Formats: sequence, structure tokens, C-alpha cells
Amino acid sequence: MKPVEIAKNIYWVGALDWNVRDFHGYTTYKGTTYNAYLVVDEKIALFDAVKEPFKSDLIQNIRQVLGPRGIDYLIVNHVEPDHSSSLPDLMKVVNPGKIFCTSMGRNTLLEHYHREDWPYEVVKSGQTINLGHRTVKFIETRMLHWPDAMFSYLEEDRLLISSDAFGQHWCTSERFADEVEQSELMKHAAKYYANILLLYSPLVKKLIETVTKMGLKIDMIAPDHGLIWRESPSRIIDAYDAWSGQKPRRKALIIYDTMWHSTEKMARAISQGLAEEKISVQLLDLKTNHRSDIVTEVLDAGALIFGSATLNNGMLPTMADMLHYLRGLRPQNKIGAAFGSFGWSGEAVGLINQAMEEMKIKVVDPGIKVKFFPRQEDLKICEELGKKVGKVLKEET
Ligand code: FEO
Repeated sequence: MKPVEIAKNIYWVGALDWNVRDFHGYTTYKGTTYNAYLVVDEKIALFDAVKEPFKSDLIQNIRQVLGPRGIDYLIVNHVEPDHSSSLPDLMKVVNPGKIFCTSMGRNTLLEHYHREDWPYEVVKSGQTINLGHRTVKFIETRMLHWPDAMFSYLEEDRLLISSDAFGQHWCTSERFADEVEQSELMKHAAKYYANILLLYSPLVKKLIETVTKMGLKIDMIAPDHGLIWRESPSRIIDAYDAWSGQKPRRKALIIYDTMWHSTEKMARAISQGLAEEKISVQLLDLKTNHRSDIVTEVLDAGALIFGSATLNNGMLPTMADMLHYLRGLRPQNKIGAAFGSFGWSGEAVGLINQAMEEMKIKVVDPGIKVKFFPRQEDLKICEELGKKVGKVLKEET
């Protein structure tokens, strides 16, 4: 895609990746974009780069704006290879006089590309550089989501170049958030938050407070993935504020896998009990729902109810995968319960309870185990479990 002028003399010069389907465990059904921004002023500055296979897209776009000349400054807001793996080749072409990055950014660049000879210039939060008619202020955003990360704020343009924050893994021909279907946009933004930033929610909260205290006037937010927030950028800041609060809703997820449909029958009976308590409930079979989509639903759910049959003295592999992924993201403010069928040993429920305790999910019931196929009375007990979870959730929300 050709360069797009997003503000006067500021160009999107990134690349579209229609085909990527996995970001280390997160499914990107609709691809992603690697956004880079070129600012043409007395000094020419490039903010971020792209993934290595897309380096010619970036170079071509820079050439289209600048012709054969190089750039003065390269700003590396974040070193993860989806934004930096093109650097070894890009550096030869655009030959920047300085590379601005955080102290951790410099270390991380060295650890990736082993180039002592690049012209690093370490910056700290609050530090500014002048491009001529523009001032760029750097704001360190350590651990959002790598230790090296920072934002770049273009004061005169009121433009925040926000690195991974406020992005979406969604490849579109449009460049601005106001040009696409809004519910799909927010779904992608929520999925991105849930799978990448949920773990760092306390830092997100703190960052929003810091940015608010700094009194930055923001007319546009340009993230490194997905669409640029041009109209009401506060919308995505407000969404991040809400998501980082992890306030539970009266919403329950029944996340399960089943061998011969017994656990599935139990899941359905539990959902009936929840529905009777007027709790919004979703049945999520792990065979047909990807972990990264389930985590998006976890974002505002108040109750997580996990079900697995016992296989080889343990839980089913899909459940182990789900719990492992979820544990890493440290969801907060949830209540939970477990259930599952078994043949002769029945360890799955106990193991799930243990995993929930480790995640500090409040387990509201010891859980239900059913031997082989559930009888009507077993299903009644499952329904009662649904009601019980629903009642506790109502008390807590
Ligand atoms: Fe888009 Fe953390 O890289």
C-alpha cells in the first residue's frame, strides 16, 4: 500500500500483512499491519519500522515520499521483531544520523542485531527533541508490553505514536478507525488488549493516570498495528481504562472439553442454572473456540466455569492449554467453579480447582464430578451449580 498522509507532512509508510494467522498463540484471523510513520520537517524522522519480510514495502514507501535522500532520525519505540527485524537492511538504505530509543531499547537492539556501530541516542521519559517545526516528547512505557517500550508524542500535531498500545491485529485497506465497521474494530481492539496487555493492566491504569496528569492534548493516536484513531481518540483510551479495571460483569463463561458428551451435557445444565439467574452465559467448547478468542470474552466476564473429562489421570489437553495461557495473563476479579465426567479416577476437577486457586480465581464450589454418563439427578445438581455461581456473581457485581 502506498504512503498515506495522516497529518500535514506526516505519512503512514508501513506494510499490510493480510496472511499472518498467529502471533505466538494469538490467532490473527484477519492479518495485521506493521505501521511506521515518516515525519518530514527540517529533520526527517522515521518512527518504527516493519517486520523483515515487508522491508521492501517500507523502503518503497519512504522513497516515494523522500526520493533518494536518507533520514536524519530513526525512533525505535519498541524492539520486538515485528517492528525492528527490517532494521539491518533498512539502516543501509536510510542511514539515520541518530537512533532514539530508551536505555532498555538500546540494550535490546544490541541483543537482537549485535550492532555496536549504530548511532544510538538514549532518551528518558519527558525528554524532547526538535525536528524544526515540531517537538517530539518521549514517554517511557516500560513493560507495556516489553521493558524497552515508549510512546512518541508530537506536540504541535497533538499526535501520539503509541507503539503496540491501542492497536489491533486487523489488516484493512483503510488506515483510520472511523472508516471501518465500529463493532468489529472494538472487538479487534479488545482481543488485542486481552491477549497482549491484560497481564499488565495495573501498569496500563498507571500510564493512563500519568498521561492524564501530563495534560497531553491528543487529537490522533497512531499505533503500530491496525487503524489510526483520528476521530475521538479518547474512545480507545476510555476502553483501555475500562479493560484495565477488569470490572466483572454479570457474564459467565462455561469453558469445557468433552470426550463422549457427558461433560458437555453437564455444561448445558449449568448454563441453564445461570440463565435462570439472569446471568449472560456462553458455552465455549475448546474444540471449536480458540484460546485467544476465549480470553477476549474473559475480559469482562465475572464467572469462569471450567469443565473437563478426566483423561490419563489428568485433564484434557485442550483444558491444560487454556489454563496455562490464562494463568500467564493473570485475569483479576473472577469467581469460578469446575466440573467434569470421569471413568475411574477423576482427577480433572481437582486439578482445575488447583489451577484456579493459583490464578486467584475465587472458587465458589468444590466442583462436580460425574461417573461416566450423567443421570437426571446429576444434571439437576449441575443446574444448581449454575444457580449458585449466578447468585454469588450477583452479590459481587
Ligand atoms: Fe507489535 Fe510487541 O510488537
